[in-house]
Amino acid sequence: MSFWNDLEKPFFVMAPMADVTDAAFRQLVAKRGAPDVFWTEFVSADGLYHTREIKKMKDEENPLMGILAKTDAERPILAQIFSSKPEMIAYAAKLVAELGFDGVDINMGCPDRAIEKQGCGAAMMKNPKLAQEIIRAAQAASNLPVSVKTRVGYHNESLDEWLTALLEANLAAITLHLRTRKEMSLVPADWELMKKAVEIRNRVNPSVLLIGNGDVQDLDDARAKAAASGCDGVMLGRAMFGNPWVFAGRKPEDTPLAEKLAALIELAQDFEKLTPRKNFSILKKHIKAFVTGFDGAAELRAKLMETDSAAALAAAIAERT
Ligand SMILES: Cc1cc2nc3c(=O)[nH]c(=O)nc-3n(C[C@H](O)[C@H](O)[C@H](O)COP(=O)(O)O)c2cc1C
Repeated sequence: MSFWNDLEKPFFVMAPMADVTDAAFRQLVAKRGAPDVFWTEFVSADGLYHTREIKKMKDEENPLMGILAKTDAERPILAQIFSSKPEMIAYAAKLVAELGFDGVDINMGCPDRAIEKQGCGAAMMKNPKLAQEIIRAAQAASNLPVSVKTRVGYHNESLDEWLTALLEANLAAITLHLRTRKEMSLVPADWELMKKAVEIRNRVNPSVLLIGNGDVQDLDDARAKAAASGCDGVMLGRAMFGNPWVFAGRKPEDTPLAEKLAALIELAQDFEKLTPRKNFSILKKHIKAFVTGFDGAAELRAKLMETDSAAALAAAIAERT
């Protein structure tokens, strides 16, 4: 039994996003309406092993350990790891348990070439036997619930083989980004496929929770997609950009500009405090998303893009008002 069993359905979860869902952004979202489950950014299991065991880097100085920093405001929280080596996944899963996470999520969907070259991420879909071994390694190494985030196939939709292989591995939950690897993010997510996934799940292993992901705009949209497809939960990613209120049910236009700008300042301040090893320029994605859709937005955005500290960003915003 784990927190997964206590979630009321449909539940709504935060997508793991590299350089987005760091501790600072998770705090921002947690204060405005928490999702039912938080996710970290993905982190390389091999990288954790190498930096800690070979290079003997101190945890306080290790950027990969920085990715795994969290506070109690963000619970339940899963750490997302990736590797193509069972022993590395075991190492990272054990570490994640020691750090107090509520679950281990394994990335088997990332299309980034650098990740795939290592046989990780989406490449795992080409090797279901290895994927099962990786999952078993995580399950054996920690007593945490193990979940997987993946896509509906590599070149083509292959739910019959791929989803069945995952279901056989007795995961707590599976998140399906409803696109193939080949489709990247170039075509709309195919929510019709979620119905097929639910049928397979009901037949092969009804105890595994299924979470749908892709192009969900807001909570109303998430509820409609869950009702139409029969999935247990819905994951929202880009809908959080500029709208940390999304899990409270707000649409981007529901929030007054002053409140958005205050949220951006708070994010920048927390970013400096909580992710000291990250470059301030990572916040540019958020600046673009928060500062849009009003008279003078382009001008203010351009000014904020040049700032390099929370204080400078706050000063530039104050100058405008
Ligand atoms: C900037 C960015 C970073 C991402 N990083 C990750 C990641 O670390 N792990 C992962 O499983 N997916 C990652 N994704 C994919 C998202 O979790 C999600 O599957 C995708 O954005 C589709 O959902 P959406 O339409 O709700 O955004 C990332 C996506 C974006 C845009």
